[in-house]
Parts: sequence; structure tokens; C-alpha cells
Amino acid sequence: MRIKSIRGVKDILPDEIAKWQWTEDWARKIFRRYGFKEIRIPIFEDSRLFSRGLGETTDVVEKEMYTFADRSGDSLTLRPEGTASVVRSYVEHKMHHPPSVVKLYYMGPMFRYERPQAGRFRQFYQIGVEAMGSASPTVDAEVMCMLVDFFKTLGLPDVELQINSLGDKESRPQYRKILQNAIEPHLNNLCANCNQRYEKNPLRVLDCKEAQCKEIARDLPKTVEHLNPESREHFEEVQTLLKAAGISFAINPLMVRGLDYYSRTTFEITSSELGAQNALCGGGRYDYLVETFDGPPTPCFGFALGMERLVSVIKPGLDLETADRPDLYIVSLGDKARQASFNIAGELRSKGLIVERDYDGSSLKSQMRKANQKNCRFALIIGDNELESGKLVLKNMVESEQTEIPLDSFSDEILKIAVPAS
Ligand code: HAM
Repeated sequence: MRIKSIRGVKDILPDEIAKWQWTEDWARKIFRRYGFKEIRIPIFEDSRLFSRGLGETTDVVEKEMYTFADRSGDSLTLRPEGTASVVRSYVEHKMHHPPSVVKLYYMGPMFRYERPQAGRFRQFYQIGVEAMGSASPTVDAEVMCMLVDFFKTLGLPDVELQINSLGDKESRPQYRKILQNAIEPHLNNLCANCNQRYEKNPLRVLDCKEAQCKEIARDLPKTVEHLNPESREHFEEVQTLLKAAGISFAINPLMVRGLDYYSRTTFEITSSELGAQNALCGGGRYDYLVETFDGPPTPCFGFALGMERLVSVIKPGLDLETADRPDLYIVSLGDKARQASFNIAGELRSKGLIVERDYDGSSLKSQMRKANQKNCRFALIIGDNELESGKLVLKNMVESEQTEIPLDSFSDEILKIAVPAS
């Protein structure tokens, strides 16, 4: 019986992995510079964490969660995102003591039952960042700067930063009423989804993708037109700081984001190199989520980026192409040579070389072909004759030059010539 992978779930194959690791390594390096530390959160959680945290009427909670009862009947959910889990962990481990800004990042798979298409999967990987404990607009700007810094380091081509402000818990109820009143006369012309959203989550009407709704949304009142003075000042300060950092951005008053926990600043970065699913990352401020889970008032700002989308737009540099290139292939000819090469390989690996070898006693020609296929820098040829004479042959695969290496000091001699690539 042949079993295939599940729709919308894919393997990340060894040939692609260098790009992934390179990206993750840079994320770690750059996030560290800004004082962020890694947190590893569970893959599954109590379902209520997400239904309460992300909002009962969001698409993710209503239609996309992988929820199941475990053997004791508890309702568990495969995490559709990381923010709710980080907040749970923050409260559970009392990270608010002593008071300071807690800066965390995470990497790993998320699960959403969405309709699979290019750039949209049911299991996808995110790198997420959460800065918890400050309401300062400097945090918003600094985290976005960090992201831009990261994208620049990866050599990303054209990306566009869009920002918006959704207001705060004082301004939102008033705005919601104004928006509902403005939507009402258009209900007959809005899609069925928006007719439902009008009641439960009217802000989502603003970023509906249906053509007829987009047309209507253009003229609806926007959140940025109804901010209270505090939120307006916050939004203006974020813009001033971004400008000071030389980061270009556009205000998109229709960007609402699909999760309900946001307040004030929201943002998305899109890439013109991606297709319909063009959001590389998104995030924003969520000043009330920690309180939802019985933590103290803790204003937060964060984002998550989609790894599949990011990796698909990175153009690998030369260092990436050679990242996993073996230093040396051991070609062994004859039984004694094969036995000896077991220890020779071990010693060379202990000195830091990436060593490949033959296992099955194939011909010299076939082993050399494999050394070539694996793009090895050197081949070390060991035959029974070489063992007897005490001299091995080291072949430079790029320049096709051969050097004799004394068997009794082979690792020192090889290291002089083949400095480990990694
Ligand atoms: P999100 O916008 O739902 O935000 O997801 C962030 C990013 O994950 C998207 O911009 C996209 O690149 C990627 N993504 C989302 N769904 C899929 C999918 N089905 N297939 C492939 N990639 C996908 C969040 O998840 C928030 N937790 C971000 C955040 C952190 N806000 C504050 N802190």
C-alpha cells in the first residue's frame, strides 16, 4: 500500500534545506542583536486558547482549526499560529516578573485547514516574534526595523510595508457602530460572508477579497479616520520613527488582519514576486490579549512570517549553494581498504571535515562518479596497494591534481590541504 502525504502538507526535501537553515540562522543572529530570545511552544494546546485568543468569529477559529478530542476527551487543537501560545506561556510562567519588556521569537509548523494553493498550505512554517510589556510606539517601529533588517540581509527583492491603525478599546466600539451604519445600506450588494460579518465582525468587511465588496469598502469609514487622540499620536510616532530609520511604507486603511486580537498598529509586508498569496508576513499590536488570559495589563507587539513564501523569493548566494558540500569522498578499493576507510573516515570527521564514502565496494569509476555527483572537493583514494605502500592518494576534484599522502600522518596532511568548508 502506498501512502501519500496529506493535501496541503509537504516535505521539505534535503535539496531545499540549506535555504531554510540559512534563513533560520540569519533570523537567530539578527533577532539576538535586538535582544530577542527563542521560546519553544507546544504544537498542540487546549482548544479554548485559540477560540478565545484569536476570536470566535475569525475564519481561523470558525473554519480552519485542526481540533480533536484526545483519549481522555479533552479538546485539543494543533496550533494555527504562535501568539496565543506565547501569551499563555508568558502568563503561566509569570514572565511579567520582574517588570521588563520580554522579547521572544519562535520557529515551527502551524496548522490551518485552508484551501491549498500556491503559497498556501495546511501545514506551514512560521518565524514569529513577540515583544511583550511596552506600549511605546518605539517598540512597533523597532520590531518593524528588525524585520526590514532581516529581509535586507537575505537580499530580498522588492517588498512593500503597509501599515494601519485599528484604534484601541476606547475608540473601537464607537467606530464599530459608525461602520455598521455605513455598511447597512449596502447589505444587498455585499457577499454572503460580509452579510454575516456585518453583525459579528464588521471590520472584516473592509478587507474582503470579493470584487463587489472591495468596491463598497473603498468608501466606508476607515479606522484611521476615527482614532482617539492617544491612538492617533501613537500612530504618528510610529510613522515618524519609520521615516527616521529610512524605511518606506504605505498606509493601507483597509488592512484589518484576520485575527481579532489586534489594536492600534497593524502591518503586513508583501512581495510582488509572490502570486495571489503575496503576504510574506503580518503582525501588529495586541494590547489586551494577556489580560484575556488573566495576566496583568501587558501591551504587546509582534509579527509572524511565512517560511515557505519567504524561502520561495530568496535568491541563494554562492555560500548557500556550497553550504552542504562534502569536503572529501573516500574511494576504497578492496576489502582491507574498505575496513581501513572506516577509521580513516571517523578520524577525518572528528577533525571537522564533511566526509562521504563508498559502502558497497563499487568500481573505481563508479565511486569517482559519485564523488563528482556529490560535488566533493576532494577524493581520497585507498586501495589495498596504497595501504601496503603506506601512501594514500588525495585528488583535488576541482583542479584534477593528485597528491600523495603518508598513511601514518594522513589527517594532519589532509587538513593542511583540505581546510573544512564549514
Ligand atoms: P498571520 O497573518 O495569520 O498572522 O500569518 C502570518 C504569516 O504566515 C502570513 O503573512 C503568511 O506569510 C503565513 N501564512 C499564514 N497562513 C498560511 C498558510 N496557510 N500557508 C502558508 N503560509 C501562511 C499570525 O499568524 C499572527 N500570529 C502574527 C502575529 C504575531 N501578530 C502578532 N504577533
